[in-house]
Amino acid sequence: MNYPVNMAVKPDVSAHFDEATNTITYIVKDPASNHCAIIDSVMDIDYAAGRITYDHADKLIAEIQERGLTLDWIIETHVHADHLSAAPYIQQKLGGKIGVGEKILIVQETFGKVFNEGTEFQRDGSQFDALFKDGDTYMVGEMQGFAMYTPGHTPACMVHVLGDAAFAGDTLFMPDGGSARCDFPGGSAEELYDSIQKVLALPDETRLFMCHDYGPNGRAIQWETTVAEQKVDNIHVGGGKTREEFVKFRTERDAQLSMPKLIIPSLQVNMRAGEVPTDKDGNQMLKVPVNGI
Ligand SMILES: [Fe+2]
Repeated sequence: MNYPVNMAVKPDVSAHFDEATNTITYIVKDPASNHCAIIDSVMDIDYAAGRITYDHADKLIAEIQERGLTLDWIIETHVHADHLSAAPYIQQKLGGKIGVGEKILIVQETFGKVFNEGTEFQRDGSQFDALFKDGDTYMVGEMQGFAMYTPGHTPACMVHVLGDAAFAGDTLFMPDGGSARCDFPGGSAEELYDSIQKVLALPDETRLFMCHDYGPNGRAIQWETTVAEQKVDNIHVGGGKTREEFVKFRTERDAQLSMPKLIIPSLQVNMRAGEVPTDKDGNQMLKVPVNGI
């Protein structure tokens, strides 16, 4: 795939770190206009209490309003298993189209079964406004973005590239964090290795923005690095690590990881583009499939 890289365009990137889920949400502004996109928003949940709030999303909305920006896109790099998306809430306030990778259909099929969703749960991606294929382009004002298909962590993962900025989703973490797990249904360490090579094939000076950071070994939270830094320093794939080495390490590591705290509510909400499911009476309701995941 020949991706339409344009390093001459340098978007303004504003990062919002969510302490509860270690997620970084980005507002990406076209340097030539007042148009922007949001990548990977967060809806706050107190799962023990079954309570949903919007503090994180409200901060994004306030920033966009204060800066007088027009929101063109609300992009999900993938169906997250560790936080809930606030995409519909933001769309209701600011407009914009919600986009995700076309392989969301696989994720909907898999988890539609796990959560025993009825036929009213459409498995055709129709909850989203756009389903991206590998190499699909879209506009944020006058700035062109494109989606790179990067499966491995999940079968629907995409990295989004806008000018010289790439949003890694859950392919890479910061160099000292390595890479994302591959043990969810449809995940594959082999595929993730190949996807990471696609990201590392972007120009060396590409700014890379992470979706998560956990501050390994007590360092302060960080989210920005470059392709050049990742190639050399990434502890899982840098310095010429082979596919075999990566797959062995990743598989052994994943076998020791516990499930993300919010996987049960996250999947149910995020496979619906961020909408909370409702029961037959219209009440917002989440399920817990026993021994289902
Ligand atoms: Fe993820």
